[in-house]
Amino acid sequence: MSATLEILAFAGSLRRASLNRRLVRTATEVAPAGMRIETFDLVGIPLFDQDVEDEGDPDTVRRFKAAIDGSDALFIASPEYNWGIPGVLKNAVDWASRPARESVLAGKPVAIAGATPGRGGTIHAQDQLRQVLRATGANVLPRPDLLLAGANDLFDDQRLVDEGSRRRLERLLAALAEWTRTLACRD
Ligand code: FNR
Repeated sequence: MSATLEILAFAGSLRRASLNRRLVRTATEVAPAGMRIETFDLVGIPLFDQDVEDEGDPDTVRRFKAAIDGSDALFIASPEYNWGIPGVLKNAVDWASRPARESVLAGKPVAIAGATPGRGGTIHAQDQLRQVLRATGANVLPRPDLLLAGANDLFDDQRLVDEGSRRRLERLLAALAEWTRTLACRD
């Protein structure tokens, strides 16, 4: 692991004005010293099809897996759809989980967060994402949570502007850095 932690961040939403994309953008801006955050856009990742996989990963999937592989840890910001994670995120995780014994997600430290205009702060989706990532062997940071409820009031049209929420995001990223270094020492 290099002195600078390389984080790959992505949102579980394809929407151009997505709150969660704005959360990812904000993370790149408030990353602590010693952390660099690159982003990946899930647009263009096709639906998982094992016949296609058998013929070789499509180019976007190859790039996605390589970006995960080249990172020290992940930051995922996702909406909640019907109390679960959006299909685009589940689909991306499914691609990245393959082949099972060589998955780029195995052992990968991950911090998760979510924003919603609703009141629940994406708690159901985050629980589900933890469960899905556990199946892949990823190491999800246990705490702190970052559940941004009533999020239409927390963002301007580009980024998270609510000061308290920005500080909570900074604390989450600092915890991810510590978690990543701790896990690396155990290897
Ligand atoms: C939603 N939304 C939503 N919100 C929530 O807090 N809990 C939920 O279960 C759902 N369910 C749901 C289902 C579907 C199909 C859609 C399209 C939306 C609202 C959702 O939080 C809102 O649209 C967010 O703005 C989506 O996130 P992005 O795209 O802004 O990141």
